[in-house]
Amino acid sequence: MRKKIFVTREVFGEVLDFLALHFEVAANQEDKVLTTEELARVLADKDGALTTLTERIDENLLSRCPQLKAVCNIAVGYNNIDLTACNAHGVMATNTPGVLDDTTADFAWALILATARRLNEAEAYIREGRWDKWKLKQFLGLDVHHATLGIIGLGRIGQVVARRATGFEMEVLYHDVRRASAEIESACRARYVTKDDLFRRADIVTIHIPYSRETHHSIGAAEIALMKPSAILIHAARGGVIDDAALVEALRKGTLAGAGLDVFEGEPAIHPGFRELKNVVLSPHIASSSERTRFKMAMMAAENCVAALTTGNPPNLLNPAGK
Ligand code: DGY
Repeated sequence: MRKKIFVTREVFGEVLDFLALHFEVAANQEDKVLTTEELARVLADKDGALTTLTERIDENLLSRCPQLKAVCNIAVGYNNIDLTACNAHGVMATNTPGVLDDTTADFAWALILATARRLNEAEAYIREGRWDKWKLKQFLGLDVHHATLGIIGLGRIGQVVARRATGFEMEVLYHDVRRASAEIESACRARYVTKDDLFRRADIVTIHIPYSRETHHSIGAAEIALMKPSAILIHAARGGVIDDAALVEALRKGTLAGAGLDVFEGEPAIHPGFRELKNVVLSPHIASSSERTRFKMAMMAAENCVAALTTGNPPNLLNPAGK
């Protein structure tokens, strides 16, 4: 009998075609966000699932899905999956590392440039028909070239962001829980500093760490208070790493010049303060969203699912104890 799988959100047709070569496939192509109840019902007789960061895969769900053997996230981040619960239920969990590094780093740069040069404010000014004359002191921004870039998290994406900084002739500082190898530091031209030092010295701070209990609000009022009033904060990693209320407060008070944010605590809801602030560039968690990269991510998750349910050895297994 063919194994059954469910794809929890809309994916590309080619991905469904590929999955259909191996499994009986049901898919939520209408892209409705499913409640835990709905998900538990549909997964009750499934062997595998392609999931996204909008589905919470935890004990509550897994205890109602006795047949489930594989949960393949279409994302590199997997804070929506409780790996301990997966282990307890013999469920393999996988993610999509590597394929989105360049695209996500590109977008971090889009946020850096847009925020530093106040592109959102300038664009709104034209759209609203307010541009009546050229002015010397119009939308004065922050120079990105030759500025000091501070990277929190020199993992795969952080490294790509650092390498892109060479073109802007920037000084690159980084902080991470573990210092990178000399080889990586030299390829990225990045210097390891303490977290406090980084927040004090950088003109632009960009966050590239995963969300976990340990990183929850690891960028809060104390860290933001160390930043220069002329500095900007960029976040395209995971909501919850920054204490959004503390950030809104700093932006309101003007102790920080601006922020470029692709991810939010509790998204898609966002702190209402962000909407009122002009000095924030906002985007809806799209850093990895290029046509090619989102396709690769979905296909990689599909390949993980096929490997998990046919060989028991998916290439991007997160929890060997779940086998
Ligand atoms: C990821 O891969 O974790 C992204 O945030 C999803 O786009």
